[in-house]
Amino acid sequence: MKSHFFFKTIYCAIFAQIYEISGLDYFVKRKNLLVAGSILLLFVLVTLFYFYRIQTTWVESEPYQRVNAIPARTLIVAYSRTGNTFGAANAAARYLDADLLQIKAPQYGLTMEGQGLAGENADAQVTSAPIEHSPVDLSRYELIVLCAPTWWFRPAVPLWSFVENHDFSGKPVFLVLTGNSRYKKQLTQPFAALVEKQNGQFLDMLFVRRGRFFWQKTPAEVNQEVFEFLKSHVTRIDLQ
Ligand SMILES: Cc1cc2nc3c(=O)[nH]c(=O)nc-3n(C[C@H](O)[C@H](O)[C@H](O)COP(=O)(O)O)c2cc1C
Repeated sequence: MKSHFFFKTIYCAIFAQIYEISGLDYFVKRKNLLVAGSILLLFVLVTLFYFYRIQTTWVESEPYQRVNAIPARTLIVAYSRTGNTFGAANAAARYLDADLLQIKAPQYGLTMEGQGLAGENADAQVTSAPIEHSPVDLSRYELIVLCAPTWWFRPAVPLWSFVENHDFSGKPVFLVLTGNSRYKKQLTQPFAALVEKQNGQFLDMLFVRRGRFFWQKTPAEVNQEVFEFLKSHVTRIDLQ
């Protein structure tokens, strides 16, 4: 038994020597480095492709069409570049039996150029940009919910333009933002001030943090957060 252990130790020592002298350890280390590098490169490429896909693809959601003959008391106004906010706005409109008004801004379309311009304008804190939507009379409603994605920590440019172009006739207003990570209060406060300047009564805001890349909330989870906000914030007083 003892001699067996002795020979085993000798064999191991000899093998370690050959391994070192032959330079095999260098190749093994190099191979490990190559494997790690390839995995990292693959991860970066997949992430880049994923980023490209989410910036150039519209996320479909269940369409909303109001059927009630009685005029709606709430208006949901939504700008969405890639469909996530629009999905949440659809769900909110269904929940509140509201009219839904979609804002479009083709210059921020589903291309990398559109994405680039969105970032550029948001970073420069642009408020006036060309927008398209059906004509609307805000004085017809008792509550207005404004929805948009977050661009550079503030509401997306087209929502600012919508507010700039309208008189809110003293109506209460909520803001719903979706985003990947965060917003800055010092950049949403001027938005609230703009709503007030346009005769709106800014009540409160919800920020839905959807999460980044592969770790994002599902549309159902996003909608749930919106429902909870509306349930706790929209009281009968708002809709009187
Ligand atoms: C130009 C640009 C800037 C963005 N900046 C932010 C940001 O500052 N904070 C954040 O949480 N998300 C940011 N996002 C992510 C979007 O807000 C998020 O993906 C949003 O839910 C997309 O909504 P949509 O699909 O309705 O366009 C940014 C996206 C774009 C295109």
